[in-house]
Amino acid sequence: MNYRLTVSLPAIILGLTGFAQTLPQLGKDPVIEVVAAMTLKEKAQAVTGVSVFLPGGKRPVPGAAGMTRPIPRLGIPAMILADGPAGVRISPQRPGHKGTFYCTAFPVATLLASTWDTGLLCRVGEAMGNEAREYGVDVILGPGMNIHRNPLCGRNFEYYSEDPFLSGKMAAAMVRGIQSQGVGASIKHFAANNTETDRKALNTIVNERTLREIYLEGFRIAVEESQPWTVMSSYNLINGVYAPESPELLTHILRDEWGFKGLVVSDWYGGRDPVAMMKAGNDLLMPGTPMQSRSVYQGVKKGNLDAVILDRNVERVLNVISQTPRFKGYEYSNKPDLASHAVLSRQAAGEGMVLLKNENQALPLPPRPVMIAVFGKASYEINTGGAGSGDVNEAYSISLVEGLNEVGYGLNPDLLRIYSDYLKNNPDKQLRSQHIRRLARLPEKPVSQDLIDRVAAGSDIAFITIGRTSGEYADRRVEGDFNLTPEETDLIQRVTEAFRKQGKKSVVILNIGGVIETASWKDLPDAILLAWQAGQETGRAIADVITGKVNPSGKLATTFPVRYEDVPSARNFPGILRGGATRKHPPGILSFVFPRRSQIIYEEGIYVGYRHYDTFRIPVSYEFGYGLSYTTFRYGEPMLSGTRLTDTLGISVEITNQGQKAGREVVQLYISAPEDRLDKPLSELKAFAKTRLLKPGESEILIFQLTHRSLASFDPESSAWIAEPGTYLVLLGASSSDIRQTAVFTLD
Ligand code: BGC
Repeated sequence: MNYRLTVSLPAIILGLTGFAQTLPQLGKDPVIEVVAAMTLKEKAQAVTGVSVFLPGGKRPVPGAAGMTRPIPRLGIPAMILADGPAGVRISPQRPGHKGTFYCTAFPVATLLASTWDTGLLCRVGEAMGNEAREYGVDVILGPGMNIHRNPLCGRNFEYYSEDPFLSGKMAAAMVRGIQSQGVGASIKHFAANNTETDRKALNTIVNERTLREIYLEGFRIAVEESQPWTVMSSYNLINGVYAPESPELLTHILRDEWGFKGLVVSDWYGGRDPVAMMKAGNDLLMPGTPMQSRSVYQGVKKGNLDAVILDRNVERVLNVISQTPRFKGYEYSNKPDLASHAVLSRQAAGEGMVLLKNENQALPLPPRPVMIAVFGKASYEINTGGAGSGDVNEAYSISLVEGLNEVGYGLNPDLLRIYSDYLKNNPDKQLRSQHIRRLARLPEKPVSQDLIDRVAAGSDIAFITIGRTSGEYADRRVEGDFNLTPEETDLIQRVTEAFRKQGKKSVVILNIGGVIETASWKDLPDAILLAWQAGQETGRAIADVITGKVNPSGKLATTFPVRYEDVPSARNFPGILRGGATRKHPPGILSFVFPRRSQIIYEEGIYVGYRHYDTFRIPVSYEFGYGLSYTTFRYGEPMLSGTRLTDTLGISVEITNQGQKAGREVVQLYISAPEDRLDKPLSELKAFAKTRLLKPGESEILIFQLTHRSLASFDPESSAWIAEPGTYLVLLGASSSDIRQTAVFTLD
């Protein structure tokens, strides 16, 4: 036996090498031939990732979310996929390695959408894509673009807006930026994944028109305008079918209708039946388990899965792999330009902060020296982003007090000491993710009236920061999260009153990732700045706005309602358990580990966000599209390219800065459509544009384009998009209700 082996080994090696030379190689030979040369086992493994816990699962980029299995004999390398929407998520340290691998924490998506600046989103995407490429990552698992259906969704910070048009445009810009760097993006989570509670077993009941117009429309825009390399299917079921097992969603709509050419990847451990997923067009199962590969293998062997379908899916995976930097042999540096990306992160942060209130010219602050009394624990440990896969491991984060200190403001030393001690003495200060949870748990520090009065006497102005964080796996609660805690309300009341009594102003800073209640307390401070969770430069970016270095130009991409009960989906969130039991509280992270079968009915239909509040005349605290500036803008008479829309219609409007400070204006174009067969919301966003920085007195003409598509609604009866004939009203506004100019046109 031994003898025979020694004799035949060289022959075998020779044979193998000879054979290898004739084997098709990815990139050199047509993908079809590479697929044909694969064994069934290899194919089953190509469509299931290799888990970090399995042999061969060690990632070349530690901390990346997933990896596909390489097949060296066919020239197929691994593909590395890493989160996520606010920056690349990898481990900052590596065992046995001295260097660090930090990534830039950009502002969360709610802030990015509030910039209404597609050019900026594209630049942020470029920077993220560049970091991915330079760290050896091939695909970024973002942007997230689910609709803000309900303010309690724990992941709203990862998503853009309550409006599908704005979401789609933002996502498309981000994808273009990311992919310009030669790495892929993955728009997620497709689709109707607007709740975290029991997300893996939640059946979303939604009618076809609503699904099309509200929950799919943003994805359509992103697919058609930016061709993402990948789309990530969501965990939930839609009308009884798991999204990753739905041929209707993943093949008919995504590919046949929208022309998607890339690959569909599952969410992590998403879907139930690998064979059904393969058939539906969910090409890649991530992070991949041996059981899934076995099911696919057995599926073909037993005739439950057509080999042609598996080949098709493998082909799609290989097509994407063949575009990756890793496949192209790119030698990544592990040294992205973090310094310049930090500058961009700060700029984006300043552009997306929304000035909600500014009375008595409280902001910008007068030139220094100013002594600021800074209240609220989040002022000292700022929330830079949310938790879960949307978190980023950044090198540092700048708190509000650090930002204010850097620009030379005086900070009340008593408060500095008291809050620092309070945070320091909290026992579980460890990793950043724990830090996020700690901030969420830690109640607001009570401060005595005595102290407030003393501080008010010795300071010029008060800042009170209200912080929130949330994350993957759990939804938020109404009490103490959407609504302020009693301690927070008390703090705002007593501080604003004490300062007012002494003729001094106060400013509330909202360091939040999603919507909170503002109506009950917004009269108290002189100014309110919605700073969002603005990434690693949060404190500096707030200081930029406070000093007036940056004139705020952010506008809300999501409505702030008066009360939670006013939210159209309040009665239907986070769904009911099978059997009809209503949940008293969202079960939190347990629902991820042990999801219970449940159902959520999108009863409000297309009336989500401003479509609901405006149509049914429900007062809100701050409307969609709202945001103040330190200057004011005049809207000129709109000019239309015609009185009838034939193929397209052009609309232009001149915007003039009529105030004293340079600034930018976001102009929103809403359409109010005639109602015939289909009911219509009062108005819907159909275009928007942002001016460049206009000096006082300067003007810019903004141009908008409408097409038939802008006017169409989805008619479930004919299963088609239809634009009804009649007279359409164009509303040009500084927000959804602050309409400055109108015009009409007709559609025959
Ligand atoms: C999340 C995805 C994420 C994936 C990989 C999942 O739990 O839902 O958004 O991309 O994990 O980390």
